[in-house]
Amino acid sequence: MRFVPHVLSCGIKFCMAKILVTGGCGYIGSHTIVDLIENGYEVISIDDNSRSFPNSLNGVEKITGKKVKNYKVDLKNYDETRAVFQENPDISGVIHFAALKAVGESVQVPIQYYENNIFGLINLLKCVQEFGLPDFVFSSSCTVYGNPDTIPVTETSPTKKAESPYGATKQMGEQIIQDFTNANSNSAAILLRYFNPVGAHPSTLIGEQPIGKPQNLVPVITQTAIGKLPKMFVHGTDYPTRDGSCVRDYIHVCDIAHAHTLAIRYLEAKKNKTRCDIFNLGTGDGVTVLEAIDTFEKVSGVKLNYETGPRRAGDVVAIYANNNLAVSELGWDIRYNLEDMMRTAWQWEQKIHAEEEKAKNN
Ligand code: WQD
Repeated sequence: MRFVPHVLSCGIKFCMAKILVTGGCGYIGSHTIVDLIENGYEVISIDDNSRSFPNSLNGVEKITGKKVKNYKVDLKNYDETRAVFQENPDISGVIHFAALKAVGESVQVPIQYYENNIFGLINLLKCVQEFGLPDFVFSSSCTVYGNPDTIPVTETSPTKKAESPYGATKQMGEQIIQDFTNANSNSAAILLRYFNPVGAHPSTLIGEQPIGKPQNLVPVITQTAIGKLPKMFVHGTDYPTRDGSCVRDYIHVCDIAHAHTLAIRYLEAKKNKTRCDIFNLGTGDGVTVLEAIDTFEKVSGVKLNYETGPRRAGDVVAIYANNNLAVSELGWDIRYNLEDMMRTAWQWEQKIHAEEEKAKNN
């Protein structure tokens, strides 16, 4: 796999707008900042580092050569959030990632999820309105579809009752933004519904850094392979799917990142069809858990220690995207396949492990 930065077809790098990325120290936020910078944007970040590491931006600087300023601000603090906009009057767009996103945790502490994810969004939109920012991109999720009746899902597939408070905050967030843009002609928005973002930047300078024991499949796979976890469980192999395990649409985080740059360009060019356009970000390929494990074992050469366990509450049986709209409207080009996703995730895990071992020995 040859890593080629997703530089837009024009190829000309000229100074474009300044974009505010919330959650810029996080997994998808940091990868998106790299893509924005590689496509000529200036970027600042707001991240309270409650669920992320400031060193992510060191990795961004090593990749791009650009230092990115992070404002360590909690979006629930309106005055501090507003101060960032006041200090940066040349912001023209916002990409909003900052949110709590653990499905299982959200069931345990729903009020924390509603307070953080909804209050943070509302404070941000109040600033977007006051400062008249034209472009707003929202990190949404395929969890808004719930358990779909038909797959692949399109952007007009029905959104069913959310399976978790996390999913409910994404559904509410989409509704709030749609109502906001309908009432504010100065601002337009794009809602990006991610499927399952996985993998790491090919440089292994940035990647996913789960805090505590990971819940998501790929970090569980890589931590089991490296020996951090003694074994892993496949949550159910008695589903009505081709091998009995759940089906998901895994998509490389760099492809997800580039879609955000394309979304900002789409809004800048005023190509949006409505005040608030929606796009699915998935490969369109459904992959079972067992197939994902097989692919990891193939690219890593590591035999995974896994057992079949009981189903996990809240799991969707099968979901994958119809991504035609993002491909045709945004010009989205998917560059990484499942092997690339597993290979970069594994390379990142090995790098993190080597650094942890080195720190232990020092
Ligand atoms: C995938 C499959 C598990 C761990 C995530 C995010 C959600 C959204 C979509 C962006 C399921 C199985 C997992 C393990 C397993 N993304 N699994 N053993 O639940 O699809 O949702 O992606 O917004 O926010 O949570 O992802 O990686 O947790 O699970 O068998 O140890 O892997 O049961 O079938 P999920 P996941």
